[in-house]
Amino acid sequence: MASLEAIRKIQERGLLVSPEAARLDDNELFFLAEIAEKKGLIVVKPIEIEPVLEEKKEEEDIEELLVIEEKKGKRSYDDFVEYYNRRYEYLSRLLSHRPGLENVSSIARISRNGGRQEVAVIGMVRDIALTRNGNKAVVLEDPTGKITVFFSKNNEELFNASRDIVLDEVIGIKGLMSRNAIMASQLYFPGIPPIQNMKKSPVEEYILFLGDTHFGSALFLEKEFNNLLSWLRGEAGNEKQREIAEKIKYIVITGDIVEGIGIYPGQEEELRIRNIRGQFEEAARHLSRIPRDKKIIAIPGNHDPVRVEEPQPRIPAEYAEALLRLENFYMYTNPAWIRIGKKQGFEGFTMLLYHGSSLVYYADHIEYIRASGGQKRADHIMKLLLEKRHLAPTQGSNLFVPTPHDDYLLIKQVPDFFVTGHIHRVVAQNYKGISLINSSCWTGKSEDQERRGLEPQPARAIIANLKTRDLRILNFYLGQEE
Ligand SMILES: [Fe+2]
Ligand SMILES: [Fe+2]
Repeated sequence: MASLEAIRKIQERGLLVSPEAARLDDNELFFLAEIAEKKGLIVVKPIEIEPVLEEKKEEEDIEELLVIEEKKGKRSYDDFVEYYNRRYEYLSRLLSHRPGLENVSSIARISRNGGRQEVAVIGMVRDIALTRNGNKAVVLEDPTGKITVFFSKNNEELFNASRDIVLDEVIGIKGLMSRNAIMASQLYFPGIPPIQNMKKSPVEEYILFLGDTHFGSALFLEKEFNNLLSWLRGEAGNEKQREIAEKIKYIVITGDIVEGIGIYPGQEEELRIRNIRGQFEEAARHLSRIPRDKKIIAIPGNHDPVRVEEPQPRIPAEYAEALLRLENFYMYTNPAWIRIGKKQGFEGFTMLLYHGSSLVYYADHIEYIRASGGQKRADHIMKLLLEKRHLAPTQGSNLFVPTPHDDYLLIKQVPDFFVTGHIHRVVAQNYKGISLINSSCWTGKSEDQERRGLEPQPARAIIANLKTRDLRILNFYLGQEE
């Protein structure tokens, strides 16, 4: 693919570059231009710069699996009802395939039948409370009604499993119906099936995960990032490390690409660049040093200039133009589903990318996660969300817009990689065949994070070997660890 600079130079010479010619590399294009000049040929049709940017997307080996459809105009109450109905429909169907939940009844029906009977129901969690006796009472709702389900503290295993229940999620229950309530004997989450073999590429290639670069912040870790770039360019590291750098084919950035403006009170003090386009120019200045054979895949986060409600659309060219002009840069939505690494006879890997604004809620509201370190245990939170098959099951755990056709935060398929950011911590572990990555950050601790009690692990690059599925954390941090 010819660089935009080369195309411009040739256009300045009075020649027109066709989309076909733009696919050649720079040398070939200049060679062709010379012939065209000598022979008085014209290389047909003018092209705008934008179509070239568009075209690069089609021929590459990155495939976007999720296309978000939006509704124009105002959202009504009905949109919210519809949105929750879609979620319930999908998750209840998923649950109804689980052994033990083949014969679920509607809540209206079991309430009508009354009497002591074994029942199975699927419902959305509307309330969770502890009773005076220390048992747990969960109110479940389906389209036909509501019912209370008790988890006895005497059934320790089940009671412990019920610690994972969160508001608004869809679960399945088996138990004994008596006096208009159910005493639970089994609990089902939508779940991730255990897998036997991890999917592996026939070729040794690597993905590098970066997150929360926060370009434009005065706290941006420039030295560390430059060291990372030197390594990626093959200018630093020992022989083995350079070999790995060369084999990195994809670089994933999980949002908060730039620091943004007006994100939290007092942020001005921590900005080095005070206009948003300038922040993206700074991002492009750094990321343009990454060799062009490495494809940069990025999604927005809450600091980037798009609406904070999820799903977040791509960052528009109006702000991110400098980045979008990099020929190896690909912008997606938040969340995004991407397929990469496809080879002849190998289907490639699916990646679920999510910036992670909901993670904080579960760190604070799930008792055992809070007790084991809260945001420091992003691995627990990521597993929890996977098992619930939703990125933000509880209303209030994220900001969202009800999209009309689907709930795009559902985890409808089991991804090979589940990648988040936002809390500036490092997770790199494999769970049921899925690589869980939470991707550090390249900025120091802001006053806002200080207030939110966030303890970052900055300047870590995580690499995944696609042939072995081994994960490694490379520490570029030069400062003092807390
Ligand atoms: Fe961030
Ligand atoms: Fe964030």
